[in-house]
Amino acid sequence: MVSSALERRESLKAVYDEARTCTRCPLHQTRTTVVFGAGNANADLMFIGEAPGANEDRMGLPFVGQAGKLLEKLLAEIGLERGDVFIANTLKCRPPDNRDPHPNEIQACHDYLLRQVSLIEPVVICTLGNFSTKLLRADTTGISKLHGRDEVQVIGTRAVRLYPLYHPAAALYTPAMLATLRSDFERIPELLALGPPEQPPALDPLPELEAPPELEGPPELEGPPELAEAMPAPVIPMAAEPAAQLGLF
Ligand code: URA
Repeated sequence: MVSSALERRESLKAVYDEARTCTRCPLHQTRTTVVFGAGNANADLMFIGEAPGANEDRMGLPFVGQAGKLLEKLLAEIGLERGDVFIANTLKCRPPDNRDPHPNEIQACHDYLLRQVSLIEPVVICTLGNFSTKLLRADTTGISKLHGRDEVQVIGTRAVRLYPLYHPAAALYTPAMLATLRSDFERIPELLALGPPEQPPALDPLPELEAPPELEGPPELEGPPELAEAMPAPVIPMAAEPAAQLGLF
């Protein structure tokens, strides 16, 4: 689908407004903020990490810690900055103690990611690490086999150039992995220059314009209703307002 930049941003904001109060999985009980994603809604390049950590959970923005600093550095080395790309995660909420995402959480969050991809229409998606790579390839092959190999994948309604990379957090403390990540990064401009791959036939009606059926009913609550009612409303710090999350600078 071809949308104007403004339409895209507005549609993405609508998905964000839905996600920010999400109760689809138990992580809503422990999160501080839904980390929807941030950057340029019209980006050709998207990065998809694993899940927010403590800093991200507090600030409502993805990749704001050490791994994020490394990501920014690697972007700068290929002439890009955060505002040129869109950064999201497989999970929008922090797993307690930074444990690995659980399959039910990945499943519950998947639709947000699909809608982000369908609206942003990136040319290249870099999956960072195992979780996003396995999810978007629907396959259990690990990142050490796949990093640096681009392939065309249909993600929801959109065909993209999927380019798995090591997770920057893993590269932070392993020089050999950092060298590999850096050399894999160097191919990103070449992949972007290829432009979008051939697209699958458009579906009618367009899925991103329709609310998924499960969103039309009352939100699913975990645990007994009295527990859910006792949960405080999510705190939305300034940084989590749409302008910051969507990079509408
Ligand atoms: N690691 C991730 O995968 N995502 C973040 O947002 C931060 C660290």
